[in-house]
Amino acid sequence: MKLSFREMVPEDAEQVEKVEQACFAIPWSRKSFWEEAANENTFYLLALDDGEVIGYAGTWLVAGEAQITNVAVAPEYRGKGVGTALMTELVRHVKEQGITAMTLEVRPSNAPALALYAKFGMKEAGRRKGYYSDNGEDAIIMWNTKL
Ligand SMILES: CC(C)(COP(=O)(O)OP(=O)(O)OC[C@H]1O[C@@H](n2cnc3c(N)ncnc32)[C@H](O)[C@@H]1OP(=O)(O)O)[C@@H](O)C(=O)NCCC(=O)NCCS
Repeated sequence: MKLSFREMVPEDAEQVEKVEQACFAIPWSRKSFWEEAANENTFYLLALDDGEVIGYAGTWLVAGEAQITNVAVAPEYRGKGVGTALMTELVRHVKEQGITAMTLEVRPSNAPALALYAKFGMKEAGRRKGYYSDNGEDAIIMWNTKL
């Protein structure tokens, strides 16, 4: 694997959409990624293998807090440390912006994601009942307020 990282630009939206569709029951559209890349209050980091998008992690930077919107790694690349590397780079970037708190939502059934987020000091702070519209699953709200 020839792994590299860089910030997403709008022109990446087509490749990112392909990974998104392989990863989520309710995928975001290509247009959403285009808009997220163009928004100056966001930071989206891509993981690439030999120039091809294999994963990404995105965040909104709002009122001194980082709200993680999505973290995804293409199925055939999972379990090789790519998710950890993306989160490490993302945290480094937001800390450089002076941000010290990070939050996200995750499904209780998503063991790999819960394990990944625990590595970054994310702790359960509450639940949103029936948050996910595909199966009515709750969302766990996680925070790390001491990045
Ligand atoms: C969550 C996700 C991004 C992790 O990416 P990844 O590249 O496989 O992550 P890593 O290889 O860095 O593994 C991170 C940790 O997750 C855990 N983990 C990985 N695969 C796992 C599995 N199948 N079951 C349980 N835990 C697992 C391990 O604890 C691992 O840490 P360790 O290697 O130090 O033990 C990936 O599984 C994914 O894209 N899932 C689908 C999309 C998704 O659900 N995103 C999160 C939405 S909130």
